[in-house]
Amino acid sequence: MKIAIGCDHAGIRLKPILIDYLLKHGYDYKDFGTYSNGSCNYAEYGQKVAEAVASGMFDRGILICGTGIGMSIVANKVPGIRCAHCHDTFSAKATRLHNDANVIAFGERVIAAELMLDIVELFLTTEFEGGRHVERLNTIKAVEEKYSK
Ligand code: RB5
Repeated sequence: MKIAIGCDHAGIRLKPILIDYLLKHGYDYKDFGTYSNGSCNYAEYGQKVAEAVASGMFDRGILICGTGIGMSIVANKVPGIRCAHCHDTFSAKATRLHNDANVIAFGERVIAAELMLDIVELFLTTEFEGGRHVERLNTIKAVEEKYSK
């Protein structure tokens, strides 16, 4: 599984912890930045990761900013992205089972590293349930297409 990751300056402390986890568990990943704690625009990095996943080159995306909110908003603007802003394990599992979320967004100012890694594990290992949820995802896709130029 190929994972695209990205953060802004407010997510720079948690990203190396995430990278250690991905390496330890044998995931292939690419870090789309930012690479320093200098103030930057979270939307640029969220866009890069979301486009990498939407292109099909990466299976999942993981984003970290201060709250996870800005990153999730921008990621969900990219057609084909279903980004979950998620800080608990129940939602992490549910968003894979029900929403087939392909990107997840965390807030470094919100969540502890240990909990983030528990959530990452569920996000990367839980399969989409399919069934009744397929029709619901098709409706989301239809909304996306309706408002795409
Ligand atoms: C940066 O200060 C902060 O606005 C950003 O990391 C994020 O929380 C935006 O939603």
